[in-house]
Amino acid sequence: MLNVQLRSRLIGGCAAALCAAMASTAAAQGAAKAPAAAPAAIVGSAEAGAKKNSMCIGCHGIPDYKTAFPTVYRVPKIAGQNEKYLIAALNAYKTGERNHPTMRGISAGLSDQDIADLAVYYANKK
Ligand code: HEC
Repeated sequence: MLNVQLRSRLIGGCAAALCAAMASTAAAQGAAKAPAAAPAAIVGSAEAGAKKNSMCIGCHGIPDYKTAFPTVYRVPKIAGQNEKYLIAALNAYKTGERNHPTMRGISAGLSDQDIADLAVYYANKK
């Protein structure tokens, strides 16, 4: 009963512009609180990954493909690989822990979200 009264008072009491302002303030507060509640919660999306892999398929999309740079090099198959392994591998190129020039260049342009998306995409690809 109290709730209903309170709600109708709030709705009745705020003009359209004020309501919008109240709603956006609430949304902003919610957004600001979210990262604290779930730190580093980057969730990959296979759908998003499918849109980001155009720069990978040139090499990884061709079975048994070999690059000629820096030397003739076999391109590893990444489709169906473990998701965490793919994330770790891409981060290792990004930080320089792994030192293949092509993959270093490519991973340098990937955000954590890109890496997560691509990893789920490839992990679920056959
Ligand atoms: C120009 C060719 C080329 C392109 C383009 C390319 N890669 Fe690679 N990738 C390679 C080669 C060659 C290796 C092996 C390097 C090594 O031995 O460290 C590799 C290695 C990897 C590995 C590690 C695989 C393993 O088994 O450890 C991952 C993961 C990977 N690439 C993901 C990607 C993603 C994601 C993209 C697109 C954003 C991409 N690559 C684009 C050539 C390419």
